[in-house]
Amino acid sequence: MGTSGAFSKSDRGDTNEIDLKKKDKECDEFSKYLLDRMRQLEEYNTRLKEETRKIESEKKFAESQKVKYEREVRRLRSEIERMKAPPLLVGTVIETLEGDKVLIKSSAGPHFVVNVSTFIKKGEIYPGAQVALNQQSLAVVNVLPSPKDPLVHGMEIIETPTVGYEDIGGLETQIEELRETVELPLVAPERFERIGIEPPKGVLLIGPPGCGKTLLAKAVARETNATFIRIVGSELVQKYIGEGARLVREIFLLAKEKAPSIIFIDEIDAIGAKRIDTGTSGDREVQRTLMQLLAEMDGFDPRGDVKLLAATNRHDILDPALLRPGRFDRIITVPVPTFDARVDILRIHTRKMQIAEDVSLERLAALTPDATGADLKAIVMEAGMFAVKYGRDKVEWRDFERAIDKVMNASSRPSLQPKDSSVMFA
Ligand SMILES: Nc1ncnc2c1ncn2[C@@H]1O[C@H](COP(=O)(O)OP(=O)(O)O)[C@@H](O)[C@H]1O
Ligand SMILES: [Mg+2]
Repeated sequence: MGTSGAFSKSDRGDTNEIDLKKKDKECDEFSKYLLDRMRQLEEYNTRLKEETRKIESEKKFAESQKVKYEREVRRLRSEIERMKAPPLLVGTVIETLEGDKVLIKSSAGPHFVVNVSTFIKKGEIYPGAQVALNQQSLAVVNVLPSPKDPLVHGMEIIETPTVGYEDIGGLETQIEELRETVELPLVAPERFERIGIEPPKGVLLIGPPGCGKTLLAKAVARETNATFIRIVGSELVQKYIGEGARLVREIFLLAKEKAPSIIFIDEIDAIGAKRIDTGTSGDREVQRTLMQLLAEMDGFDPRGDVKLLAATNRHDILDPALLRPGRFDRIITVPVPTFDARVDILRIHTRKMQIAEDVSLERLAALTPDATGADLKAIVMEAGMFAVKYGRDKVEWRDFERAIDKVMNASSRPSLQPKDSSVMFA
């Protein structure tokens, strides 16, 4: 029994040991498995974390992208709005009325009483201001800058030109006469009052092209410190009926505003040609412009501080109404320069040039018997160009000889031949 008991005991002990060992082993394996698993999970976790970080940064990027595109969409939308917005009409304020209303004249012609946007301050709207109008209600939505400029566009206002009497060669008698008729009434009107005479209203400069008519007018304006308003006659010839006349009216208004001033109409033959009944509407429009000019001339005081000056090289085709007393009643002829005048003009234009000793201005003047001031200026210029071309330090006689040849023998001088110009007007 004992043995059996011992056996059984030892036997049981054996099995216990084996069991334990087995369990140990299982435990070991299990913990190894767990550890493995844990490591795996940890790895998996870090991978996931990394993935989240990546995705998050992607999300952030996408969000910023979204903001960017939204902004772009907004910009394009507003651009579309802007492109689709109806145009505003342009009008002129005639009068401001009680209760935020104004009387305006639309560009099409009729007058309207309209509202004003509350964004516009009271002081900004005044009679004569140019305003932008809503197309449907014609309400004033904007005040346009400086109303005069667009109206009298094409007109050149030189406050004070840079040309003086010292820049004009010859023409002493013409300068003297201009001073008496234009400058004196502006600077000393009392002298005319004392004697009891009226200075001439308008002065007309006539003579072939390029002899200094425009130059003279500019010089007078500078010496008198007057505002110089220059307009070329052809610019008064407008496309629409009544436009030319309106321009003339506005020029005179502007001149009064900026007085003392000189209105200079260059190439006046464009509107002042003899009225012939050809009957085309374009001619009638030109005549209407001329009539407005005559009316304006009749309407202003010769002793006032606005002087009228005009120039033309075709005074033979001018309408006699323009030359009547009380209109352009003083005519000053600006002739082709004489020998002495040519020397003078050459001296003026070579003032700033490096000239070699062998150049004689007198000899040059003798070689250019029928050159105008503009021709002489061109000759001096061309001579300078030759000197530059050949790399000289000074302009030499041969440069001038070449220049004379180039300028005076150019075939492109038809405007000086009277027979050609008459063909143009025939
Ligand atoms: N008497 C002159 N003295 C100096 N330069 C002159 C003279 N005449 C003409 N010129 C030159 O010729 C250019 C054209 O003259 P301009 O006065 O425009 O002629 P126009 O008689 O056709 O109006 C002037 O800019 C000037 O440089
Ligand atoms: Mg001219």
